[in-house]
Amino acid sequence: MKGVILHGGHGTRLRPLTHTGPKQLLPIANKPMSQYCIESLREAGVRDIVVIIGGIGANKVQEYYGSGEKFGVKLTYIQQDYPRGIAHAIRLCKEFIGNRKFLVFLGDNILKRNISDYAKDFQQSDAKASILLCKVTNPTQFGIADVKDGIIKKIMEKPENPPSNLAVTGIYFLTPVVFDIIDRLKPSERGELEITDALQMLLEEGHKITYHMVTDYWKDTGTPQDIVHANEVILKDMEPYFYGKKEEGASISGKVMIGENTTIKSGARIVGPLILGKNCVIGSGAYIGPNTSIGDDSNIAKCNIEDSIIMAGCTIDCDIKIRRSIISYNSEILQRKENGDNKVFLLGEGSKISL
Ligand code: DAU
Repeated sequence: MKGVILHGGHGTRLRPLTHTGPKQLLPIANKPMSQYCIESLREAGVRDIVVIIGGIGANKVQEYYGSGEKFGVKLTYIQQDYPRGIAHAIRLCKEFIGNRKFLVFLGDNILKRNISDYAKDFQQSDAKASILLCKVTNPTQFGIADVKDGIIKKIMEKPENPPSNLAVTGIYFLTPVVFDIIDRLKPSERGELEITDALQMLLEEGHKITYHMVTDYWKDTGTPQDIVHANEVILKDMEPYFYGKKEEGASISGKVMIGENTTIKSGARIVGPLILGKNCVIGSGAYIGPNTSIGDDSNIAKCNIEDSIIMAGCTIDCDIKIRRSIISYNSEILQRKENGDNKVFLLGEGSKISL
């Protein structure tokens, strides 16, 4: 089975984090979220994968993943000129897929569960598509399936009055018959070719669509708080390691993942679960608490951080508490040296600050 990863789109809900690159490259536990999709496909034996790229910083995807060899897969890239919908992106893969069954993974979906058995099941079934459903508390935000007696009756995109709370997750098992369906789709109200409309048309034309219920962790990382939450869940599951250096008088507790050449200075306090990348310095005035990821080459001299993502190359030396925050690459938060409590900001477009 071949695979498709959707790595395009505008990432508007995650601005300003997405001003410089695609949302699927935003790190969760120091790894781009789309890398979890690639690993998931690889574990299911799907190694020939096409990545749909587009939008700001699409070149960064190719720079990071290259041929895929380093990640144990073979990657091909297809450019989508504009985010015209998930179904549109899938249609671009027709030649690549040929006449075999295939698996589509939205690059911003995090699924903790291994999908190998779903893939095997689909290979052996005569269904034209199979989807993974997950119960949600906010069904107006997702594609929703109406299921009766184990049979999918209807699939719709973000309904105002959802008939169920069963979200259609961004992992789709498909057959090439979907390409013909997509060719006949009309854009939705949001102007996109919707995968949910394609699935609904499949149903209407008498094709069988099966489903599995996902009860493990699944997240569509649509908002910053979704990313912070996914970070927390992934960190809890990781195997601890320590390749850094701990000075005498530094305190470390809980489960920690510490990269090469990272120094925890005397007086610093680290409480896991957390991950610190390579070549970081955690100074004597720093407290880094649970559910935090700090990227490579960061210098956290003084600060109090929990439940946050600090990307690579950041410098923080300030007497503040940072909570549920995402700070992008190479940012600086420093204590003002002059007297007075006036603050100085240099913020990019769409920045968000809560003081
Ligand atoms: O996450 C599950 C949900 O994903 C489903 O329940 C919905 O039925 C489905 O429509 C989708 O909803 P979203 O509104 O969250 O889709 P979003 O626009 O965020 O796009 C999903 C992914 O696909 C994201 O990684 C960006 C990528 N994408 C999206 C579009 C519209 C593309 O690569 N190209 C596109 O044209």
